Amino acid sequence: MNHPLEQLRAEALREIEATGDAQLLEAARVKYLGRSGSISAWGEQMKTLDKEQRPIVGKLLNDVRNDVTAAIEERAGKFRSQKDSDALAKIDISLPGTAAERGSLHPLTQMLDRAIAIFRRMGFALADGPDIETEWHCFDALNTPPDHPARNEQDTFYLPDGRLLRTHTSTVQIRTMESALPPIRVIAPGASYRRDEVDATHSAQFHQIEGLYVDENVSVADLKGALEFFMHELFGADTAVRFRPHYFPFTEPSFEIDVRSKALKGGEQWIEVAGSGMVHPAVFEEVNRARGDDAYDPAKWTGFAFGLGMDRLAMILFDIPDIRLFAQNDLRFLRQFA
Ligand code: PHE
Repeated sequence: MNHPLEQLRAEALREIEATGDAQLLEAARVKYLGRSGSISAWGEQMKTLDKEQRPIVGKLLNDVRNDVTAAIEERAGKFRSQKDSDALAKIDISLPGTAAERGSLHPLTQMLDRAIAIFRRMGFALADGPDIETEWHCFDALNTPPDHPARNEQDTFYLPDGRLLRTHTSTVQIRTMESALPPIRVIAPGASYRRDEVDATHSAQFHQIEGLYVDENVSVADLKGALEFFMHELFGADTAVRFRPHYFPFTEPSFEIDVRSKALKGGEQWIEVAGSGMVHPAVFEEVNRARGDDAYDPAKWTGFAFGLGMDRLAMILFDIPDIRLFAQNDLRFLRQFA
C-alpha cells in the first residue's frame, strides 16, 4: 500500500530526524500537526471519503499522527538532554570547592549547657526576664532601698526613661514570683551589666545563673546540698565548697560561695563563684504587695536563692585567663573549644 498518508508520514519522520535544534523541530511540528498542518488537513478530508474507506483511512491517519507525535517527542527529549550536558560541560568539576567553615559552641554556651543539665536533674526549670529592667524589679522589690550604693548612677547604666540595664539576674526571682505560685524551682541564666573598670576579671557585661527555690520548710541545708552537688558535678567530686557569711539585702542569712580543687588551675586557692542566701521575708512581702494577694506568705514559705558567676565558672572550667576573651570574637581563641 502506498497511500499518500504513508508518504506524508515518511516525509515528516525524515524531516523531524533532520532538525538541528528545538526551534526547527517546533516549526516541523506546526507544519504537520499544527491546526492547519498537513496531517490535520487530512482530518478535514475524512468527511469527503465514502463509508467503506472512512474507517481504514481513519485508522491510518491515527497511526500517522501517533508516529509523528512520538518522533517529535523523542527528538525534543534529545535536545533537552543535550542542553543539560552543554550546561554541565561549562562547569569545571576539577575546581576545588569553597570549604564550609565548621562552627562550634561558644565556651560560655558550653558551660551553660552543662550547668542547665545538672540543675535539670535536680528538678529546676528555666525562667527568663528582660535585660532592660525597672528600678523596682532590680532594687526595690529586692529589699534594696533608694539610698543603697548599688543604686548609684555610677554603678549601672540608666536609660533616659529611668529604666536600667539589670545589675544582676535576681530580677528574675521577682518576675517569676509575680507570675507563678509557689512552690518554685527555677534557674535563670542571662546577661547582667555594671559600670565596672574593665580588666581581666571585670567586664561591663557579664553573665549569671540565678536560682530560686521556694517551698515549705526550705533551709540553709537545702541550699548547701544543692550547690555542693552542682559544684561536684561541674568541677569533680574532689572539689571543696565553702560558704562564707556575707551580706545581700534580699537574702538573710547570706553567703558567698567559694570552690577549691587540685584539679583546677590556680590549685589550692579558694575562688569565689556565687552569692546566695535564704530569701528575705521582705522580698516575699513586696511580691505579695505587687500581686495583691498573700501567695508568698513568709510564715508559710521559705526559700533559697543564688547567683552564679557564669563567666567565672567557665574561666575556671576551661582555664581561661581573661574575661575579655569571651567577647572579642577571636577565632584563635574560639577554635580551642571546638
Ligand atoms: N544578685 C547577687 C549578685 O549579683 C547574687 C545573689 C543572688 C545573692 C541570689 C543572693 C541570692 O551579686
